[in-house]
Amino acid sequence: MNHLLFSRVKKQKYWLLILLGWLFLITEVQAAAGHAGIAAAHPLATEAGIAVLNQGGNAFDAAVTVAAVLAVVEPYSSGMGGGGFWMLHRAKDGMEVMLDGRERAPLGAHRDLYLDKQGEVIPGLSVNGPLSAGIPGQPAALAHLAKMYGRLTLSQSLAPAIRIAREGFPVDEHYQRMARWRLEQLKRWPDGQRVFLVEGEVPALGYLVKQLDLADTLAAIAARGHDGFYQGAVAERLVQGVRQAGGIWTMEDLDSYQVMERKPIRGEYRGMKITSAAPPSSGGIVLVSMLNQLAQFELESLSAVQKKHLVIEVMRRAYRDRAEYLGDPDFVSIPVKRLIDPEYAAGLTRSIQLDSATPSRQQPKTQISEGQDTTHYSIIDAEGNRVSATLSINYPFGSCFVAPGTGVLLNDEMDDFSARPGTPNVYGLVGGEANAIKPGKRMLSSMTPTFVENEAGIAVLGTPGGSRIISMLLHAVLALSEGEAPEEWVSRPRYHHQYLPDTVQHEADALTQEEQQQLIALGHSLKRLENSYGNMQALKLDIKSGEVTGASDPRGLGKTVVQ
Ligand code: DON
Repeated sequence: MNHLLFSRVKKQKYWLLILLGWLFLITEVQAAAGHAGIAAAHPLATEAGIAVLNQGGNAFDAAVTVAAVLAVVEPYSSGMGGGGFWMLHRAKDGMEVMLDGRERAPLGAHRDLYLDKQGEVIPGLSVNGPLSAGIPGQPAALAHLAKMYGRLTLSQSLAPAIRIAREGFPVDEHYQRMARWRLEQLKRWPDGQRVFLVEGEVPALGYLVKQLDLADTLAAIAARGHDGFYQGAVAERLVQGVRQAGGIWTMEDLDSYQVMERKPIRGEYRGMKITSAAPPSSGGIVLVSMLNQLAQFELESLSAVQKKHLVIEVMRRAYRDRAEYLGDPDFVSIPVKRLIDPEYAAGLTRSIQLDSATPSRQQPKTQISEGQDTTHYSIIDAEGNRVSATLSINYPFGSCFVAPGTGVLLNDEMDDFSARPGTPNVYGLVGGEANAIKPGKRMLSSMTPTFVENEAGIAVLGTPGGSRIISMLLHAVLALSEGEAPEEWVSRPRYHHQYLPDTVQHEADALTQEEQQQLIALGHSLKRLENSYGNMQALKLDIKSGEVTGASDPRGLGKTVVQ
């Protein structure tokens, strides 16, 4: 009797809880839709961007703010000493362009920069210290973004980053992980060590990282725009610091750096329009090639494992073309039209067998980094302007070198070149002539800021993750084409193949035990990754209602705010 009574009370409570849950959910869902939004990898960056929108700035002003704040609070991911790609959509005239703020090789660089006398790659030289740094593009891109597309002044948009650099931001666990990983290199250079470590050790949780020199450099950019970084005192300190520590930068390198406006790569998949990164990123071409290949098949008629096998095979083929053909379009001629042509994709898929894996060419085994550096943010403003931006200093904390007196942590993007044909970089990527080092050339990237749209909605998305960036975008676009919401685009478990090494890398939960066995039986070799990867930031605009929703990857610390 007692027992029955108890269970009735329990049931009533249970219903009450469900009711409260629903009410909560309804308000949550309502709060999670608005007409503008920002998804970025650090809450301070999202909040600063939202504040700039509320101050009357447009998506392009907010893009300057978010990038600059990320440069301060994620020093391991991106920064003023790095570069990136900004995909822009302007609502009033539909203009779409990709700002290419990618780093360039110094003019003193040459093909064999990282080789010893025997022609062997010298380990670490393209990843650590000032010789690994390309000429930064982010300051030029932000100045251009503000001048050409923004509504506020550069000093207004840079103000939050300058303030946070002066006041400091609290160290979190991710910072600690990244700093621990790069501790040895961070300790090599006094300026970086002073700012990012405490007595040569990883700072405690909550420790405030203050960057006074960086604040001054940002203030110089706020006051003088592009020239505040590439000419005058900041430029002189950068060049002097780099050269004294063994690098090869010159004033001419900085003075001649120019941001480029590139025509985005366009494709179509199942009625959706894809607008994505153009060379010197490989992202758009590889993504569109993979989608074009998948479009040759009726995915619905395949079993789950057959579908995964097929996705792996199309990744293999598109990444092979990446290694063969892609590089800086100002230096090499890229057969873009052919590579993104559905007919060409149909040809690629002819060699796909549904009952066996196609072996890639044999190659020596490579170590692949599982980095969680580089960053992405997505913005939609209330007028419908959009920005999708992926930014990088490459490895965690880039080169670990801060040019004295500038606070600018330099990138180690030179490693994205192919140091020697066929020799893999830190992401295991190989390349050939198209991506060989040349003075003033931009290194090939995988960063893939993207828009996807159909008559119902528009998605703005991207992620860090080295060579795996492009396959992550593929998973997200597939989730999108299945009608899934942004939460699923950013969280769906991931697997990846990049032609070489001939291995399917996968997150623990991406393949069931049974799928793993079946894929091995088809001839695939699998590598389960220790850690999850990627940090996708995505927004969706519903065209009919004008509502914006979005999500930040649960693997990271990012925050999405819509209003
Ligand atoms: O441009 C590129 O492709 C690389 N430098 C990006 C590096 C990256 O995403 C690292 N993240 N794990």
